Amino acid sequence: MPTLTGAVVLVTGANGGIGSAFVAEALARGAAKVYATARTPRAWDDERIVPLALDITDPASVAAAVHAANDVTVLINNAGMLPPTASFLELSAADLRATMETNFIAPVLLATAFAPVLTAHPESVLVDMHSVASWYAFGGVYSASKAALWSATNSLRLELAPRGTHVVGVHVGYVDTAMAAHADGPKLLPAELVTQVFDTVEEGGYEVIADELTASVKSALSAPVEALYPELKG
Ligand SMILES: NC(=O)c1ccc[n+]([C@@H]2O[C@H](COP(=O)([O-])OP(=O)(O)OC[C@H]3O[C@@H](n4cnc5c(N)ncnc54)[C@H](OP(=O)(O)O)[C@@H]3O)[C@@H](O)[C@H]2O)c1
Repeated sequence: MPTLTGAVVLVTGANGGIGSAFVAEALARGAAKVYATARTPRAWDDERIVPLALDITDPASVAAAVHAANDVTVLINNAGMLPPTASFLELSAADLRATMETNFIAPVLLATAFAPVLTAHPESVLVDMHSVASWYAFGGVYSASKAALWSATNSLRLELAPRGTHVVGVHVGYVDTAMAAHADGPKLLPAELVTQVFDTVEEGGYEVIADELTASVKSALSAPVEALYPELKG
């Protein structure tokens, strides 16, 4: 079973929000080292934390990170962005492309770039941060990007499982971070979410359904589309 004890963890978008909670909880569970990556890395007050520059959308930056962090056993694809609007009708082509690039293409390419590093270990882990928005299209291109990443996570899981890499996908509604500052409604604390994620990793589970909203949306997917979108009934 995968364990955080002695693991070498790399977190993208580690400077704040859920990323910082991943750093703290990995160390609390006995990780030997955590690469806290960010476009502009910050200083950390713990010698087990290695700040590392990584822009996930920049191929040269990704290659440099793979070279620098060639002992990673747990890769956490946490970094993501919220586009300026949830409306496809109002979204610019540039924002459409930037959101798909950051939330879908970059995490997939990061996972494939680190795959040789991960699979060099007998047990390794990939965690991908999706959202309830993967299954509920209230977010426009944000939802589309997270749906695409969810699908890629499932494909990567099938490819990587025979090579010893355990792949976990995370679905959650609102979490109390800068990204959800605009939103009302119940929000998990980042630490509460990360506890669920690492519990799932260490139990050998595949998917985190972190809150009631996410559970209810997932269960509605097998019903006709208007069950999930009652406004369609007019
Ligand atoms: N908060 C929620 O309600 C919620 C719900 C479901 C899923 N999520 C997902 O959870 C993940 C973490 O989000 P959060 O809530 O912690 O939001 P956040 O505080 O806004 O953090 C997002 C992080 O992603 C980083 N990032 C963005 N583009 C990047 C790039 N090109 N290269 C490297 N880092 C980049 C940001 O770095 P900079 O500091 O450099 O901008 C930031 O640290 C995201 O994937 C998000 O979609 C969040």
